[in-house]
Amino acid sequence: MSTTADGLQPGELHAGELFGALVEPALNSMNFLNEISIRYPEAVSLAAGRPAEEFFEIGSIERYLRRFCQHLEQDLGYSEAEVRRALFQYGRTKGIVHGLIAANLAIDEGIEVDPESIVVTVGCQEAMVLVLRALRTGPTDVLLAFTPNYVGLTGAARLVELPVLPVAAGPGGIDLDDLEVQLRRARAAGLRPRGCYVMPDFANPSGLSLELAERRRLLQIAATEGILLLEDNPYGLFHHADGQHQPTLKALDEHRCVVYLGSFAKTAMPGARVGYVVADQQVIDSTGQRSLLADELSKIKSMLTVNTSPISQAVVGGKLLENDCSLVQANERERGVYTRNMRQMLEGLAARFPDPEKGIRFNAPVGGFFVVVTVPFPVDDSLLERSAADYGVLWTSMHHFYEPGAVVNALRLSCSTVTPAQIETGLDRLAMLINDELKMRS
Ligand SMILES: Cc1ncc(COP(=O)(O)O)c(C=O)c1O
Repeated sequence: MSTTADGLQPGELHAGELFGALVEPALNSMNFLNEISIRYPEAVSLAAGRPAEEFFEIGSIERYLRRFCQHLEQDLGYSEAEVRRALFQYGRTKGIVHGLIAANLAIDEGIEVDPESIVVTVGCQEAMVLVLRALRTGPTDVLLAFTPNYVGLTGAARLVELPVLPVAAGPGGIDLDDLEVQLRRARAAGLRPRGCYVMPDFANPSGLSLELAERRRLLQIAATEGILLLEDNPYGLFHHADGQHQPTLKALDEHRCVVYLGSFAKTAMPGARVGYVVADQQVIDSTGQRSLLADELSKIKSMLTVNTSPISQAVVGGKLLENDCSLVQANERERGVYTRNMRQMLEGLAARFPDPEKGIRFNAPVGGFFVVVTVPFPVDDSLLERSAADYGVLWTSMHHFYEPGAVVNALRLSCSTVTPAQIETGLDRLAMLINDELKMRS
């Protein structure tokens, strides 16, 4: 076999000659977290941020498909050939369930948007890539994001080579004074802040939510500073039964400062891979012609995934139709499970770690999937590996959500896909691990 000048055999590539970010941990953290749960299938997983599986029903997929086809025929007047084409063919780049999504946003969130400003995407993940790609025009463009930050956003930003400047977390997950400081500092350094990514409701990983006054101030800052807010909201509907549902930033947005990133992964099914972006901003070209930002994003999408699978859209559309376009209604049982599990997890943590003097603390989110436990020692993937192999419990190290190399004394627990019995077993095992670590270090 011949060897090339740089010592490679045919079929071999130097890692250094691929996109640089591929060797960075940020791009591998999702894979790592998936892979460890495959390697330790017997371990109790308090790691996965997946929706509850107990209500998944194979027959519902066919039912949703039928319901959507019926809608095309009866509500929209499609002929049978047109229905067939809508499902089997390439389709509209911006998607075919935009009208249903607009209805859903109006019903569940009080967000009134023109369906034309919606692009249906392959999961929220694609929506992030489209928006970040559009905003990144040159090397001085930057995005701001509150730390700890969702790894999917960090990875998407790396793919389009848009640096993310960290902003400090306040009690609700964001420190608005620091946001103003970081904006000033970035501009003084010749950088151009294009937007700020934010999860106002039950954030991943912190579980925290913003107060109404903070939401209003954040919108005010965005309008004054001329930046977009990229609002990501996959967990917003999962507030506890007795908890208050705060309005989204988009519902409060009077100046079109908010690009709203939506996901059906937690409220319908992640397997469909359907998400969307609401981008109702006006884009003005050099001749004064106006278009919607959604239309600009759809040009990028046409070169990335062409269109979102119409079959997947039909399944999600059918679920929306079956529930009068309300995902609050569709998720009543799931919300009950999450509320029950979160309470059990918080009570279980309080029972096992009653003495704050030992330095073990945890927050108390009022919805969503996640709780953060802080411990008096660094947490990393080697500790997770040991936790999985020797103690039989999985969780997520919080260092994945910080700058590379950060030392973080915290772990994230998820309560969404476990039974009450598994929560008890998982917490017993976690307590054993933490107590052994404390003994070893004392
Ligand atoms: C903050 C955040 N955004 C978005 C998503 C979902 O993205 P997708 O719709 O691509 O599954 C998740 C899923 O874990 C998430 O935690």
